[in-house]
Amino acid sequence: MNAPQLMAHGAVPNEAVGLDIHAHSDVSDYETTGKPFVDNAKMSARNVNVFYGEKRAIMDVSLDIGENEVIAMIGPSGCGKSTFLRSLNRMNDIIPICKVKGDVFLDGENIYAGNQDTVLLRARVGMVFQKPNPFPKSIYENVAYGPRIHGLAHSKAELDEIVEKSLRRASLWDEVKDVLDQPGTGLSGGQQQRLCIARAIAVSPEVILMDEPCSALDPIATARIEELIDELKERFTIAIVTHSMQQAARVSQRTAYFHLGKLIEVGDTKQVFTMPAHELTENYITGRFG
Ligand SMILES: Nc1ncnc2c1ncn2[C@@H]1O[C@H](COP(=O)(O)OP(=O)(O)OP(=O)(O)O)[C@@H](O)[C@H]1O
Ligand SMILES: [Mg+2]
Repeated sequence: MNAPQLMAHGAVPNEAVGLDIHAHSDVSDYETTGKPFVDNAKMSARNVNVFYGEKRAIMDVSLDIGENEVIAMIGPSGCGKSTFLRSLNRMNDIIPICKVKGDVFLDGENIYAGNQDTVLLRARVGMVFQKPNPFPKSIYENVAYGPRIHGLAHSKAELDEIVEKSLRRASLWDEVKDVLDQPGTGLSGGQQQRLCIARAIAVSPEVILMDEPCSALDPIATARIEELIDELKERFTIAIVTHSMQQAARVSQRTAYFHLGKLIEVGDTKQVFTMPAHELTENYITGRFG
């Protein structure tokens, strides 16, 4: 397939490229290469377009995320990975100028339906951010907060159990079990990120969205998070944005390549990295772009 006209050669500022796309934007001539759809979809995005004011940051993206898979989202800075990820649990709603058009289904139900409770939705589709952001509360409270507001524990003993289980699953328990009353913000960066993962899993989400969860971590902390992702996929469905192609190759089964707001190619991770079908994907993974 030929690369679309909008392919940027060299270091063109995102804004300039964005305007250029906008001028030529015609999504009807664009199709995602590969296999964006699966048989066992946990989430399905259909014709999703995201706008910041007049500017369209995501263009007609359709993609399934399979039950219990780890899907990696990769692509050059500014291509819309975070924007698309946030459209999967309506986190874009909190950005005033941001508008999402199209449909996103969770277990077949449209999360953009008028009667959707977004607090409940974000418990089902949790999120871990690039920078660890523990609440200014104790380690215990960071994890207990969600289960408490969602009424998941009927006694202190039950809450203690959820906190311990979540911290164990996030492989942080051994390091913090004696200091649960200490502030979460006093932990190391890698520990804080595992605390945020514990906080996300404490409410028993079905899907976890991770936006560059390791970018602020050293290689050892990164390796621990990657091991954790591998364990978590037994229970959860995970979508992870990463700038590290090695990380995408290590943790994911499917990979989605975004470029200037479009979903260019989706396929099995191994295929995308060894035999990309689209020229833009190839340019990116071979380091010729981005
Ligand atoms: N809050 C915002 N207001 C206006 N424009 C935004 C906002 N957030 C993102 N954008 C624009 O939307 C486009 C996609 O941004 P996004 O942050 O989703 O990209 P990304 O792929 O996650 O980039 P990076 O790899 O640098 O994190 C960019 O052109 C960006 O400038
Ligand atoms: Mg981003």
